[in-house]
Amino acid sequence: MKVLAEITPEGLRRYPDPLGNEFRQAAAEVNGVQPDCIMCCNGGDELLSIALRAFCDENRPVAYPVPTYSLFPVLANLQNCRAIEVPFDSEFNLPAKLAGTGAALTIVCNPNAPSGTFINIDELASLADESAGVLLIDEAYVDFAETNCTALVKDFDNVIILRSMSKGYSLAGIRFGYAIAQPDLIASLMKVKDSYNVDAVAIAVATAAIKDQQYFKENVEKVKADREELTEKLQTLKFEVPRSYANFVLAKSKNCRASEIYDKLVQRSIYVRFFDLPALDDKLRITVGTKEQNNKLLSALKEILSGEIASLCSQ
Ligand SMILES: Cc1ncc(COP(=O)(O)O)c(C=O)c1O
Repeated sequence: MKVLAEITPEGLRRYPDPLGNEFRQAAAEVNGVQPDCIMCCNGGDELLSIALRAFCDENRPVAYPVPTYSLFPVLANLQNCRAIEVPFDSEFNLPAKLAGTGAALTIVCNPNAPSGTFINIDELASLADESAGVLLIDEAYVDFAETNCTALVKDFDNVIILRSMSKGYSLAGIRFGYAIAQPDLIASLMKVKDSYNVDAVAIAVATAAIKDQQYFKENVEKVKADREELTEKLQTLKFEVPRSYANFVLAKSKNCRASEIYDKLVQRSIYVRFFDLPALDDKLRITVGTKEQNNKLLSALKEILSGEIASLCSQ
């Protein structure tokens, strides 16, 4: 907020640095890579769009495990490329078939959305090794996990890591994300990006935020502690909640229909995510909120499960 307040009219009159070098330098230091391994993006979503435009077309498909981030099929559609969707098993393990698709671009969201599950680095190293094309690891939620895949960039010239400033840095409004990859791959992505894809205000704010690692870590630790508390309390309300590595949990009601719980929450102006899709239609994705929001949700759930829809739930 201090950096934002210091922005002058003169600073806005000029075009921004097209590469956001100030941010690249800071992000390189935080991630232990060189600045030419970093590309700034207008949110992580822009990197996904750039990657699809760079690597995919009618003859070059994209592949990804499902269920996952709902933007992947939308971008595939826009690019008019085939999307090879390989189902996860019920525990969201990496599907073995993903390595053999021959896709020009394979995307693995890790931690995965909306499951919150995590695939370890060795498995992703094997996938990078066996993939015919580029492997993009979408680490939008990795700030809430225990480790990340940055090390793979040193060993594999076909790996792109996606990072977002929207989650762990709580800056979704400024629209900033970045790619980490070997310099040649970064250079090929840059050919596709808009000239000034990140603006001067966003560059300044994102750079200040990534430099303040202490604030970032405190922010993330707070969310992780609240995630554990929310998980335990949901379990006492008879939800199955697998361990989450993200800033949300995927909760399965053992007895009641997820869609009915969702409707009752909406009536109370409490918004969680319900996906009417295979493997998800018995679950709710709940974002870790403030303590006050989490408590409001938990008391609403208690009321709903013991009252209004109790008669509709199996015992
Ligand atoms: C899995 C995943 N990847 C990428 C993004 C993009 O984030 P942003 O564009 O805000 O950086 C999101 C946003 O919700 C996401 O859920």
